[in-house]
Amino acid sequence: MIVLDEKSGIITLHTKNTTYQMKAGSHGVLLHTYYGPRIGDGDLSYLIRCTDRGFSPNPSEAGLDRAFSLDTLPQEYSTCGVGDFRLPSLELEPEDGSRLSDLRYKGVERRPGKYNLPGLPAFFGGEEWETLTVTLEDAATQVEVELLYGVLEEEDLITRAAWIVNRGSRTVRLRQAASLCLDFSGPMELITFDGCHAMERQMSRAPLRPGIQSAESVRGTSSHHHNPFVILCEEGAGEEQGLCYGAALVYSGSFQAAAERTHLENNRLTMGIHPYHFRYALGPGESFVTPEAAMVCSPSGFGEMSRHFHRAIREHLLRDPWKGERHPVLINNWEATEFHFDAEKLVDIAREAAALGIEMFVMDDGWFGKRDTDYSGLGDWQVNQKKLPGGLEALVPRINELGMSFGIWVEPEMVSEDSDLYRAHPDWALGVPGRSRTRGRSQLVLDFSRREVRDHIYGELKKVLDSAKIRYIKWDMNRSLTDVWSAALPPERQGEVYHRYVLGLYEMLERLHTDYPDVLIEGCSGGGGRFDAGMLYYTPQIWCSDNTDAIDRLRIQYGTSFCYPVSTMGAHVSAVPNGLTGRSVPMETRGVVAMSGTFGYEMDLGKCTAEEKETVREQTKRFKGWWQLIQEGDYYRLTDPFGGGAFTAWEHVSGDRREALVSIVMETARATPPFSVLRLRGLDAGALYQVNGSEELWRGDVLMNAGWPLPLPTGDYQAMQLYLCAKRPSSC
Ligand code: GLA
Repeated sequence: MIVLDEKSGIITLHTKNTTYQMKAGSHGVLLHTYYGPRIGDGDLSYLIRCTDRGFSPNPSEAGLDRAFSLDTLPQEYSTCGVGDFRLPSLELEPEDGSRLSDLRYKGVERRPGKYNLPGLPAFFGGEEWETLTVTLEDAATQVEVELLYGVLEEEDLITRAAWIVNRGSRTVRLRQAASLCLDFSGPMELITFDGCHAMERQMSRAPLRPGIQSAESVRGTSSHHHNPFVILCEEGAGEEQGLCYGAALVYSGSFQAAAERTHLENNRLTMGIHPYHFRYALGPGESFVTPEAAMVCSPSGFGEMSRHFHRAIREHLLRDPWKGERHPVLINNWEATEFHFDAEKLVDIAREAAALGIEMFVMDDGWFGKRDTDYSGLGDWQVNQKKLPGGLEALVPRINELGMSFGIWVEPEMVSEDSDLYRAHPDWALGVPGRSRTRGRSQLVLDFSRREVRDHIYGELKKVLDSAKIRYIKWDMNRSLTDVWSAALPPERQGEVYHRYVLGLYEMLERLHTDYPDVLIEGCSGGGGRFDAGMLYYTPQIWCSDNTDAIDRLRIQYGTSFCYPVSTMGAHVSAVPNGLTGRSVPMETRGVVAMSGTFGYEMDLGKCTAEEKETVREQTKRFKGWWQLIQEGDYYRLTDPFGGGAFTAWEHVSGDRREALVSIVMETARATPPFSVLRLRGLDAGALYQVNGSEELWRGDVLMNAGWPLPLPTGDYQAMQLYLCAKRPSSC
């Protein structure tokens, strides 16, 4: 609910459990007064104290009042160069070369529904949303900033974006335009999700110390290295207690999430496009829209915060027709064959899988152009007739005859130097004339900021997609951007290329979504190098990591789960010993871990023993029975796999709390282990639950408070699942 008090300038946003407030204060400065647990509509600006502080300057309108300083006041959207020395939100560069911004309040508006952002992914929905627009102005340049807020009351979610319009008569360049700025008081801790290729989203937590700490990427993608999702929380906050704030950027390019502990021991968080090499020209009348950021405040710990993000993403970011639908259980040939396959090999893999209940076969890298290694072929999206005689027209019906649908891997943003495409259009790759180009996985990046490049690639992809019944696309992207320079833009606009690249990518994905609405697109960037809320709008599942080792996956999927729902996490069972870690984990455990994701296989099942095949058949059946509980249910992290405990456990609970599924994975076994109990969550305290179909009934409050007695481990990496069903008149 949005409450406007025009007389006092107080603007209050209420969600079910939280309140967010700002106030147009003295001299038109828009102050941020409160964000926290839900309270009434009063004026919270008493929390802000103005005192004269040394070296905190005062705007000229303040006259002799030395207590009024932008340096000390909490700002709703911070300015730059005019007295606030903390993290800026907006930096303008007009033709005179200055780098200031001085924003003052102009007006406010509220309307039902949710705003859209042209060309950018954003949360969507109908009457369950309200939109607030607060307009600010930089009088000298006549640049107007519309601060947009979307309020999704039920999920305690508030989205933000800034729409920046040049109403003046001269060009102004944006040097920084944040999506979100939040000022907080009190000591706080910052949690980020960091890592590298094959070890994404490892959780890291530390108190904010004086100065700036950040999670950021200048790689042109959101990256494996830092995720565009961060949490600020009070000391001691945990899964079920403590105040915390999660912020996710709905964007897939270079970003910065920076937290500053200030000289007054306050904190500021800004989040948005990374200012590195960002310089965006706005001619008279032109506008720029920042990506969206989404915030959830949870007064009761991380678990609630995550469940709000999960529900909001599932309902308002993932789109039809896959939203709420079961994604097919698939088998992918990459780890089994890499580039070395032919049609017969693929059909063999598919046949084995089909017999065990797997529903889709995905042909990975290596099917096109000259592509027997990763040194050549990207850009030539024509079927390699030597490997696949007769093309997809011949292969796909053979897969379909097995009762399976067919999916395909592509990497449209890339080009190999050894390709017909590159030989014909070397300037289509990003690169600065006069400099050699930096390779990544021996490939270059196509300039997706250029329409003719996108049109060509799209045309080639379309021919492939139209040649057979293709139901799924894995859209991969296997390097970071370097040498960022576009042959299509003049020198003074090169600072737009990083962002225009991302807009180009989104435009391509939108075209694909429009032309092939039923095709499921899985995002991928060397595993989870572009796992962000922006991509989820186009690709409702994303390959979580190239690391398929079930034990490493416990931590990767745990970190991912803080913002992103289970239904979006691409997860497969692969062969052992694992290709990256050399570890051998039982098939059942690999299945239990992959089941907490989209679920599929990535191995040659023909090489499995009869017993292993039986496990695959049984797991696939189990997943099909439980998918709704797993993917649509509420998710509870029961342990912290970074905590060094003997086991990792998590739980899915159905919306009506009638059913729950608990998954437990033991780490390495040891002699004389202690007896452990596992306290469950989210159950109906008074209900009686049957566990794994046994006669004995367990009360919800007993399972949640006294806990479930865990059996002693009998070997490394064992797993078990508890299926709980509340006994009511109709049985589960
Ligand atoms: C990336 C992906 C893998 C696989 C290979 C193919 O690394 O993450 O799953 O598709 O590319 O080259």
